[in-house]
Amino acid sequence: MPRSQELRVLFITSEVYPLCKTGGLGDVSAALPAALRALHSDVRLLLPGYPQVIAGVKYKSKVAEFNALSQFPPASLLSARLSLSKTEKIPVFVIDCPGLYNREGGPYMDAFGRDWPDNALRFGLLSKIGAILASDASPIAWRPHIVHCNDWQSGLTPAYLHFHSGKKAATMMTIHNLAFQGIFPPGSTVQLGLPSDSFDINGVEYYGNLSFLKAGLYYADQITTVSPNYAKEIQIEPLGFGLQGLLTARRPDLIGIINGIATAEWDSATDRHLVKNYSSKNLSDKAANKAALQRQMGLVVDATIPLFGVVSRLSHQKGIDLLIQIAPQLIKIPAQLVVLGSGNAELEHLLSMLAQTYPESIALHFGFNEALSHLVEAGIDSFLMPSRFEPCGLNQMYSQRYGTPPVVHATGGLLDTVVDCTPDTLANRTASGFVFYPMTTDNLLGAIKRAVLAYHNKKTWQSLQKNGMAKDFSWHASATAYLALYRMLLH
Ligand code: ADP
Ligand code: GLC
Repeated sequence: MPRSQELRVLFITSEVYPLCKTGGLGDVSAALPAALRALHSDVRLLLPGYPQVIAGVKYKSKVAEFNALSQFPPASLLSARLSLSKTEKIPVFVIDCPGLYNREGGPYMDAFGRDWPDNALRFGLLSKIGAILASDASPIAWRPHIVHCNDWQSGLTPAYLHFHSGKKAATMMTIHNLAFQGIFPPGSTVQLGLPSDSFDINGVEYYGNLSFLKAGLYYADQITTVSPNYAKEIQIEPLGFGLQGLLTARRPDLIGIINGIATAEWDSATDRHLVKNYSSKNLSDKAANKAALQRQMGLVVDATIPLFGVVSRLSHQKGIDLLIQIAPQLIKIPAQLVVLGSGNAELEHLLSMLAQTYPESIALHFGFNEALSHLVEAGIDSFLMPSRFEPCGLNQMYSQRYGTPPVVHATGGLLDTVVDCTPDTLANRTASGFVFYPMTTDNLLGAIKRAVLAYHNKKTWQSLQKNGMAKDFSWHASATAYLALYRMLLH
């Protein structure tokens, strides 16, 4: 397709793998734009210039300066490239604003887990520059047809564009997690340069405060979320988090598109983080990874004991508290447990106490460790994901691809991507894991026991592993669906 006919998309995100990732948004922000580019669209990222972003992108050149954006500190716009692999590079725009982004700590919080006090300004600027680049006020020649916003951090872009009277791009707002909304005091509305009358129920106001996400959901032309099931769940309580009314009213413009995964990055046949590569044809080689993981984590090295694992943010959403409650019963089955995670201090403390009590059976690694997350997926027998809610979830897909049948709560994208093991689903070769509902400790333990029973039946277990490994979790179908939506928005 000639370049002039390419669809131009500005993809705004607050994190991108491998430069900055706190969760699935980072993965999606790399893999989806890459998949869209493979379908001949000109997708470019807009990112805040955190130190690791400025250091990690190549061929930087300054293309614009923003000195007169009222309340915001001076910023410049860099045009650069992000390398995803030797052959895959994505054009990125980086907002260089040292006053807001050049600091130690995470993208949203300081080293002590406290939100940065100036987050309204930090992500207000991201949203504002996104809106400028998507309009005829842009100082650069490249002008997108579509601006694709992701989560609350870019939620104000559709609002700014709504109040821009000139030419502008169509807007899409993708919800990766409705639990995070970007709520700030009412005065922030005017400070961030939005008209005071936008602070209204028909506008950016959310129960007396400014909500970045609500602004995006109210003003965007199109709303998407990351699984069809979550698209339904957020239209009612409790998963609507107070926005169920607005989302129901916008139902005609709301669609769920399931995430894919980066299948080149997550491939057990080539993964460089494994001690031995394997595929569905030589599944027995998976065992070397189990032994290595057990040894590395200080567990008893035993090929026959079922080894369960978790890689997760340690938060209420992920249901780790339920797992903690049943852990003593889990190891009595007998079984072992590995947890790689970081987050809530109370959950880390409770997990530490368990590991101290059962050092041969429960092992922990606190912190973010990409390499270990791959070895865990390959080394464990079954992945645990008892999330209270899960807009999409990526680990249950990595697990199936790695011959590691997951145990999941029937919610959000977990329900869309895992098929419960029953006599029927085994017979029709769709069974790929264990799904429980409703969310109780008994049901979680029951599903784990079903998994252990299946694990000890070699034929059943291999069917589950092979069914999961044969599934297509690539981004191709989802990227095609996004592209179709972009095109629809233009007409
Ligand atoms: P969420 O975005 O809600 O955290 P997802 O399942 O969509 O959940 O994505 C989480 C991503 O973060 C996965 O790629 C997972 O492997 C990764 N991850 C989470 N915690 C860790 C950790 N402690 N170390 C390495 N990777 C992690
Ligand atoms: C969010 C969700 C997760 C989803 C990810 C990427 O962080 O919690 O379920 O997979 O975004 O869309």
